[in-house]
Amino acid sequence: MTELVLHVAGARPNFPKCAPVLRALDRRGVGQLLVHTGQHYDEALSDVFFRQLGIPEPDVNLGVGSGSHATQTAAIMTALEPLFLEQRPAMVVVYGDVNSTVAAALVAVKLGIPVAHVEAGLRSFDATMPEEINRLVTDRLADVLLTTSTDAIAHLGNEGIDPQRIHFVGNPMIDTLLTHLDKFDTGVAAGLGVTGRYVAATLHRPGNVDRPTDVAELVGALHAVADQAPIVLPLHPRGRERLRAAGLLDHSDIHVVDPLGYIEFMGLVRGAAAVVTDSGGVQEETTILGVPCLTLRPNTERPVTITHGTNRLVTRESLAEAVRQTLDRGPLADWPVPPLWDGQAGERIADVITTAL
Ligand code: UD1
Ligand code: UDP
Repeated sequence: MTELVLHVAGARPNFPKCAPVLRALDRRGVGQLLVHTGQHYDEALSDVFFRQLGIPEPDVNLGVGSGSHATQTAAIMTALEPLFLEQRPAMVVVYGDVNSTVAAALVAVKLGIPVAHVEAGLRSFDATMPEEINRLVTDRLADVLLTTSTDAIAHLGNEGIDPQRIHFVGNPMIDTLLTHLDKFDTGVAAGLGVTGRYVAATLHRPGNVDRPTDVAELVGALHAVADQAPIVLPLHPRGRERLRAAGLLDHSDIHVVDPLGYIEFMGLVRGAAAVVTDSGGVQEETTILGVPCLTLRPNTERPVTITHGTNRLVTRESLAEAVRQTLDRGPLADWPVPPLWDGQAGERIADVITTAL
């Protein structure tokens, strides 16, 4: 096959999603080019995923780095346009809902290159989230919409998207989880000096970590959790300074570490009595691992993790009590798993893409 499929990835959540798609297309002999936008550049947010997940070295790294939304999105677009013109791919594949996703979709459609969107149709219906804007625009532009859950199909239908473009393929993030499951060592927290029952946490959403008043309330809520069980918090760079300045570390049972590699992070989650998070991916991963997940957000674009998983939405006010209930209840014996979160999404996505080429 001579057609070239060009993948654009750039931020941490993109990497576990693209790994199985790249592998499945490679098995089918499809010519591929992987472009890293450089939206994330720290070793712990980028390189470690390539190493641990066996993702091939990017063919191109645009090195755009950080900036305001407009600056970053524009820089990615400006760098992608000549590359797309030079390579003339038969299809551009974009992942998730980050700025790299929408930037690549915009450039591709204006050059008449079909776009496939992996993780299409998720909606929080919260336009204050930059990701929601990115999702709406990318789905409006995409020719091939690959969905992880049935609610996503309904949202796309409600927005008038031609059903023939929509393909329910399951969740490639879960392919990655199941591929590496045997390596997730539940002793990660002990290795960090935390013994016994613990809570794993991640926090990076603007709605939680950008405004000092939110951050102060968040730190109070986390201290109330740490009164019950130690917290291990691999902290994303976004809120790092504000959380520290608000006194996050003024509790002896809050253990802040740098972002962990994927394998270590999943080990930490697997061994946790509960997870407190505002991450999209972590809501899905806890759903499969059966670890109770308390999501510190007013909404989720992944409601299937509530109806078919272990997830529950909480506020800063309700968090400590929710953790108490979770710890009292103890480990879950069984829980439902969303349809097609079975480790075969990458294969289904590759089938759809090769048919569309
Ligand atoms: C981005 C995504 C978000 C995703 C998150 C996952 C958008 C709009 N947001 O948010 O959807 O959940 O990634 O992690 O695309 N920084 C570093 N090192 C890096 C990258 C960033 O220190 O390698 C710092 C910089 O100060 C930067 C800030 O983090 O300004 C935010 O980075 P950015 O990529 O703009 O957004 P995220 O908050 O990471
Ligand atoms: N992750 C990781 N180390 C960490 C935190 C997260 O490997 O310290 C992984 C985890 O698999 C998660 C993925 O990175 O699902 C993307 O997470 P992030 O919260 O950055 O993005 P989101 O899913 O919220 O967009």
